Amino acid sequence: MGKTTLAALLAHLYAVEGRTVLAIDADPDANLGSALGFSAEELARIQPIAEMKDLIAERTGVQPGQSGGMFTLNPRVDDIPERFAGVRGGVRLLILGTIKQGGGGCFCPESALLRNLVRHLLVGRQEVVILDMEAGLEHLGRSTAAAVDAFVVVVEPGRRSIQTAQSVEQLAADIGISRVLVVGNKVRGPEDEQFIASSLGGMEVLGCLPYTERAVEADLTGQAIYDAAPELVEAARAIRCRLEAGLADRP
Ligand SMILES: Nc1ncnc2c1ncn2[C@@H]1O[C@H](COP(=O)(O)OP(=O)(O)O)[C@@H](O)[C@H]1O
Ligand SMILES: [Mg+2]
Repeated sequence: MGKTTLAALLAHLYAVEGRTVLAIDADPDANLGSALGFSAEELARIQPIAEMKDLIAERTGVQPGQSGGMFTLNPRVDDIPERFAGVRGGVRLLILGTIKQGGGGCFCPESALLRNLVRHLLVGRQEVVILDMEAGLEHLGRSTAAAVDAFVVVVEPGRRSIQTAQSVEQLAADIGISRVLVVGNKVRGPEDEQFIASSLGGMEVLGCLPYTERAVEADLTGQAIYDAAPELVEAARAIRCRLEAGLADRP
């Protein structure tokens, strides 16, 4: 749909400005690294946090895969970004990985560690934090949601995508995020923009990324999206301006 593409573009824009950027891949099907141009070898060195059994056990007091019993709900996480992130093009990348047992909402030590990590990154730190999530919001709880500056949903011109955006808006509302912003992607012309703007009910559209073969190409070759598709960088720049302007005049 374009979530990972947009996340990589925004991370790049902040990084080239000299901001400290932490990009977090929270999709179980992790591919933000490849959109950021990390090579297969570089990615192989970034271990997903959910797979670090010893770390999880050390921090929570319980081996991953075990549930029931007692484990620490507020494990130490502040050193994790420095220790486990990879860096490329000024962007630091952290991969959360998949919780295998019990699904996303599971009450287990690995889920406690990931949730606490995401909360720490969003609440407790000064850098630009960009979280690339699948359509569910499993790592966000109410206390974390309050620290989210902007919640952006990516849609393609098409009814199914609009429906997904609406259900994500509902999930966001459930954890206290009332302002959901939309970015259109794979837009081929004014009719597509019109379709998106008119289908979304009350959601605010920040802008659109054009459809470009260069994005498809970049995905095939593993090139960073921001190197492969300058037109997307330009479009993302406009989107970021709208985003920042919206944040500035928010009550
Ligand atoms: N603007 C675009 N034009 C053409 N192809 C795109 C565009 N944005 C994304 N794609 C392609 O669509 C696929 C999914 O994009 P991705 O950003 O990974 O979506 P998501 O993270 O929402 O699953 C990728 O192959 C990507 O290259
Ligand atoms: Mg993705």
